[in-house]
Amino acid sequence: MTTSAHGAPTLADFAGTIVLVGAGKMGGAMLDAWLALGLPPASVAVIEPQAGPGLTALSSRGLMLNPLLKDVREVSAIVIAVKPQVAPTVVPTLAPLLTPNTVMLSIMAGRTLGFLEGALAQQTALVRAMPNTPAAIGRGITVAVANARVSSEQRELVQTLLSAVGAVEWISDEALMDAVTALSGSGPAYVFLLAEAMAKAGAAAGLPPALAATLARATVAGAGELLHRSPLDAATLRQNVTSPGGTTAAALDVLMANDGLAPLMTRAIAAATKRSRELAG
Ligand SMILES: NC(=O)c1ccc[n+]([C@@H]2O[C@H](COP(=O)([O-])OP(=O)(O)OC[C@H]3O[C@@H](n4cnc5c(N)ncnc54)[C@H](OP(=O)(O)O)[C@@H]3O)[C@@H](O)[C@H]2O)c1
Repeated sequence: MTTSAHGAPTLADFAGTIVLVGAGKMGGAMLDAWLALGLPPASVAVIEPQAGPGLTALSSRGLMLNPLLKDVREVSAIVIAVKPQVAPTVVPTLAPLLTPNTVMLSIMAGRTLGFLEGALAQQTALVRAMPNTPAAIGRGITVAVANARVSSEQRELVQTLLSAVGAVEWISDEALMDAVTALSGSGPAYVFLLAEAMAKAGAAAGLPPALAATLARATVAGAGELLHRSPLDAATLRQNVTSPGGTTAAALDVLMANDGLAPLMTRAIAAATKRSRELAG
């Protein structure tokens, strides 16, 4: 790797081929982000049975689309973005791509490092990661955990691949992945539900339903953007818009009561954590 003059490495700074296995919603979003950041299409191979016109167009710019595996050389990273259910059939077929320098990055929910090690039947540098859907607009957050074989340069490559679609946090205890899945992996759905619930409540308070939906959507999106841009934490931002005895305080008295949002969210995230553990087996 030769680090760019700008400091943090870019994808173009890493030698070798990136192989993407599964270019669906998440894999496709990652591929688009890598190319937008300047990764040459000729440095990418994509294995995708349902290749659409976008991938076909990229293949005319040098991207290797469904190549014979023996023709793919010097693989620096294999990114596995297929559904977890097909992993037992797909992962073992990738073994011929592995070189001593290859790192395998899996974003499959619930598929552990132990599963991947077993499926490859050889010692491999592995990273398991959990992104979330805002990755589609470059605003995801991904949590990653590496096995002991991942070198610092491979970790940097994976960090660069993942940060193309948002923020990245590393953990060293893989057991935390179930709670990560429950919080940030599934979390966007909780926020969408919040917008739905606010819209319904606004309609119940007398607003035309379409106006209530518009207000709820813009409020969740705007508050999320403010939280994103502000250096202040969520509690401080909340306090800053709450005058004693005012309307916001009246609502927060309900939401922050002993049977309010916090215990409900704790139960919801505990249920998702438990389900993630069950699915991982
Ligand atoms: N979407 C998210 O927000 C999110 C968040 C966290 C983690 N993930 C993980 O990301 C992975 C992909 O999720 P997704 O939502 O992107 O699913 P998806 O849209 O269904 O993408 C999976 C892609 O892999 C393709 N595929 C199937 N079998 C294959 C094979 N043998 N070789 C190569 N490609 C194959 C699928 O093609 P077909 O359509 O023909 O089956 C599809 O295009 C999952 O493991 C999921 O757990 C997703």
